[in-house]
Amino acid sequence: ADAPTAAGGAARRRPSRRGKLPGRQDWSSWPHYQGAGSGFRGYWYPVAFSSHITGKPKAITLLGERIVVIRDGGKAYALKDRCPHRGVPLSYGNQQFPGTISCAYHGWTFDLETGDLKAAITDGPQSPICGKVTQPTYDVEERLGMVWIFVGDGEDAPPIDDQLPEELRDNPAVIGARIQSREGNWRFACENGYDEGHAKYLHRTALWRLFKAMPVWNETRIERRGRWIYRVQEAQHWDADFPGLGRWNNQAWFKLKPPKQIANIGNTGSHRKVNPAIAAEDFPGFASVSMPGVLRIVYPTFIHYEFYVPVDADNHLYVGVMANFEKGIRTLPFYAKYLGAVRWLFHGQFSGQDKWMVEVTDAPPERLYRPDDSLLQWRKLAEDVTEERIERLHASGLVVENPSKQAG
Ligand code: FES
Repeated sequence: ADAPTAAGGAARRRPSRRGKLPGRQDWSSWPHYQGAGSGFRGYWYPVAFSSHITGKPKAITLLGERIVVIRDGGKAYALKDRCPHRGVPLSYGNQQFPGTISCAYHGWTFDLETGDLKAAITDGPQSPICGKVTQPTYDVEERLGMVWIFVGDGEDAPPIDDQLPEELRDNPAVIGARIQSREGNWRFACENGYDEGHAKYLHRTALWRLFKAMPVWNETRIERRGRWIYRVQEAQHWDADFPGLGRWNNQAWFKLKPPKQIANIGNTGSHRKVNPAIAAEDFPGFASVSMPGVLRIVYPTFIHYEFYVPVDADNHLYVGVMANFEKGIRTLPFYAKYLGAVRWLFHGQFSGQDKWMVEVTDAPPERLYRPDDSLLQWRKLAEDVTEERIERLHASGLVVENPSKQAG
């Protein structure tokens, strides 16, 4: 189910001002990335709104693994969604005793915390199978009004706060979010989010840009800071002849006029005051991306995130989050704007254009052009970070042949 590879063929290498782009058309330059069709292991993923996880078991699929999620005593729990007895999904079951989940078929009853088989209801209280079976469990946390699950390779889950964007961890924020099941591989969703050229073309008809300025590309430098890579805009617009075709410019697409192009964060086109929580982070660019597939778009007064959550090789969850760092009564305009416009214009129509791309593409093979440097740098980041993770796993005695490729 992973991305197919194409024969390298006689692809020619052509130098560009931004460095050499690989002539090859497949993804074999990034073997971990190529192998991560069902997602990268070793990370926390948001899977549902907290309010949607109740005492009724809910089935989800994450990185190809079937998981049952249930709430008990205010806490969310996650277990492998397959009864070890006869293979019936535990998500068809229910709660007969506090702190447990019982399989719908013969009533095997598992402790939610440990996964231990506590009772086999149909075999009486002295059933000898009890204590001999343990159902695999997952680490679960709740942040930003959502339930997050860690999928790893047997290592201890790192603190989720280490993985969240720093500004969300360090500042109270109000959140507007949308979670949607979408067709297509998560990597296309992530690459599309960070794809430098698409914002200027695919989204030229998006209503969102009537209200929000978007960066216009001319020369972008990709800069890595910590675990994020940023697109740093170095020029704002061009107006030029396309030989034999006529004049075209990218300025009009975004309705930016000097001096609004002078950015105070990246190139948001805004002249407004920057929220202190955002200013404190000193973001070098408007758009950034991080493992395991998190996009961050910084505006002066709010930040938009997209978490591309791998369901399996052919499906993903789109988790769009807008965070505003105002407090008290000043949060009201944000809520009003989110519910009245942003949810429909941005998390709806604009994001729907991205959804289309992920559904219809069949890359690779692919033939890249200059703005695709953003894709190459993202793949390189994923490759490097995964290599470091494999080394860490090996150093701690966990030998996993291809940690990015395993599926449950
Ligand atoms: Fe689950 Fe029998 S299949 S208890």
